[in-house]
Amino acid sequence: MNFITFLLSAPIVKNMATVTTAGTDATTSATAAAVRHTGLALVLDKVEYSIMVPMVYFALIFCLAAIILHVISILRAPAQPYSLRIFPASKRPKLAALADTFTMPQVRKHKPMLWVFLMIFHISFLLLILGHLDILPNISLIPEASRDMLGRGLVGVGVTLPLFYFLFRRFRSPIREITVPADYLLLILILFLCLFGDMMSWGNSWTASGFVMTKQDFSQYFNGLAQFTFADPRLVLPGSHYHFVVIHVLLANIFFIVLPFSKVIHAFLALPINLLRRK
Ligand code: HEM
Repeated sequence: MNFITFLLSAPIVKNMATVTTAGTDATTSATAAAVRHTGLALVLDKVEYSIMVPMVYFALIFCLAAIILHVISILRAPAQPYSLRIFPASKRPKLAALADTFTMPQVRKHKPMLWVFLMIFHISFLLLILGHLDILPNISLIPEASRDMLGRGLVGVGVTLPLFYFLFRRFRSPIREITVPADYLLLILILFLCLFGDMMSWGNSWTASGFVMTKQDFSQYFNGLAQFTFADPRLVLPGSHYHFVVIHVLLANIFFIVLPFSKVIHAFLALPINLLRRK
């Protein structure tokens, strides 16, 4: 069903999960019963569908286009009249720029604690990207049959703990004085985005029947997105935990939309700037 047909259709057929007693696998025992929704529940269904399917495409395309335009505008800007070079000059400027970008020697020297959390965060973030890609049906970094995400929930710990540190360090002087509301908002957005992801991943990895959707269920949802089927994710994601997935995806969509205008853009600019400084 295409998504416009879905949005216009009423009433909607929705899956309900019947979860068995504790100790058994909640997902495999979930049975689907068709329930027709009306009124507020119907509105909620349509809002959730819009977040889970069309908004994901919109956010990703918007993010990509804005990053490309951003980079083009930087490349087209007149060269700055002063040099950005740092001294002493390195014999291997490209290697030095790579080292500056990925090992942050200045931060390590002056703020070792911040450096430790930055390294944990960035390494975990790379693994997190791989973990999300691994949910796609054609990519198998860990066995397809596993119900867990890559890292069995530890990748989530690796991004979430540093985020608490990054947020709380902003409450202390002198960082508080140079912090603007956008800094807090961005960190709070990413923190809650990760916490909702963690809830799903930790529920699956660390409890017998903690979260009723597994990696295989998410894989069917991702497959629908990748193949542009515009199918209702509710048909493959059973149970009331669905609302948590929707909140996670909503926060992710907002994250993608604000990314090109936020400090996160440094992910794309750090290496080129370091190359300029080492030129
Ligand atoms: C539209 C984009 C996204 C979708 C559809 C999505 C979906 C999911 C799903 C289904 C899981 C649980 C997987 C499982 O337990 O098997 C998950 C976990 C997670 N997600 Fe996302 N996600 C998205 C974007 C993001 C972004 C942008 C971030 C962070 C900036 C993020 C952070 C996390 C975290 C921290 C976990 C838990 C990882 C772990 O514990 O190892 N997600 N996500």
